[in-house]
Amino acid sequence: MSSFRMNNFKLIPGEHATELLNAQAHIWNHIFNFINSMSLKCAIQLGIPDIIHSHGKPMTLSELLVALPIHPTKACNVPRLMRILIHSGFFVAEKMFENDQEERYALTDASRLLLKDNPLSVTPFLVAMLDPVLTKPWHFLTAWFQNEDLTPFDTAHGKKFWDYGEHEAKLNHFFSNAMASDARFVVSVLIDKCSAVFDGLESLVDVGGGTGTVAKAIADAFPSMECTVLDLPHVVAGLEGSKKLKYIGGDMFEAVPPADAILLKWILHDWNDEECIKILGRCKEAITSTDKKGKVIIIDMIVQNQKEDDEDRESIETQLFFDMLMMVLVTGKERNEKEWAKLFFDAGFSDYKITHKLGLRSLIEVYP
Ligand SMILES: C[S@@+](CC[C@H](N)C(=O)[O-])C[C@H]1O[C@@H](n2cnc3c(N)ncnc32)[C@H](O)[C@@H]1O
Repeated sequence: MSSFRMNNFKLIPGEHATELLNAQAHIWNHIFNFINSMSLKCAIQLGIPDIIHSHGKPMTLSELLVALPIHPTKACNVPRLMRILIHSGFFVAEKMFENDQEERYALTDASRLLLKDNPLSVTPFLVAMLDPVLTKPWHFLTAWFQNEDLTPFDTAHGKKFWDYGEHEAKLNHFFSNAMASDARFVVSVLIDKCSAVFDGLESLVDVGGGTGTVAKAIADAFPSMECTVLDLPHVVAGLEGSKKLKYIGGDMFEAVPPADAILLKWILHDWNDEECIKILGRCKEAITSTDKKGKVIIIDMIVQNQKEDDEDRESIETQLFFDMLMMVLVTGKERNEKEWAKLFFDAGFSDYKITHKLGLRSLIEVYP
């Protein structure tokens, strides 16, 4: 007979009851974690940050309601959507003037980074990651643990992530947009804070460089450098290069074009160790320069050690989210420094240098 008979369910006095209630609240919070993502997605689809921004100053609820593209019967629900987004740090509500009757909604750093016309906007990344094509595989995580499929994405969609993009223009399009938006963001920080990494380079190949956002920015910032983007043929099809920028459709597992330096931004975390060693091997063969400028430049996460420090909790959680994302969509993972070092030495490289100036990601220079 079950040990949980009805007469075992007594109210437990003191500390123990408090712990149970905290545990229940913790579980509820985790059951409904997705509400944060979905509320944010809705705010972006309704254009709330852009509406407040175009207004030019913080906006009252009445002003927001006039501008929002919603059915009038839903107006009474807007403050509820705004309340949770204030709680999660995307808006603030404040009384601006002494005679203000109503609070006014204003943007925060996070919602400013979601404005559509912000050149560094993260919105394309949000739109892609919360599209049903990419959220559906999460419902297949358990089935995947119990079958032989490569990834939950394969279980959900019947094909690999990279093959799906080749046949479904929609995924190819929103994924390329998402990557380009991140590339704009990272390259602006890279050129501003880590430009020394490119010193002396005459040529660079951006392997898996997508539609070329990073390579274009590097070619513009360092006019004496020749840049090449290598990506899958359907990704670079129809893209026009220039004198300083070439596109090559190909497979990085087969060959990487020669250059002084090879850039791998957000590539290796997509692949398992065996696959990474193959990619790194192709990169090593492609390095033409024999002095210190000959290198692979990697931009990826280095997972921090688990600490109880509250300041680090959100960053560590974000890195763990990415690690799970790599497990669900592709065959990759996020790695700690020891795991990265093992990859480099197993691929025949002799040394590496880490620069932590890119927030949750790092810059790693790897030398032959
Ligand atoms: C996560 S995206 C990163 C894109 C870009 N480096 C960035 O960070 O913005 C991975 C890229 O690798 C490309 N890719 C996947 N398999 C590839 C292969 N076998 N050869 C070359 N590129 C590949 C994808 O098409 C995609 O553009």
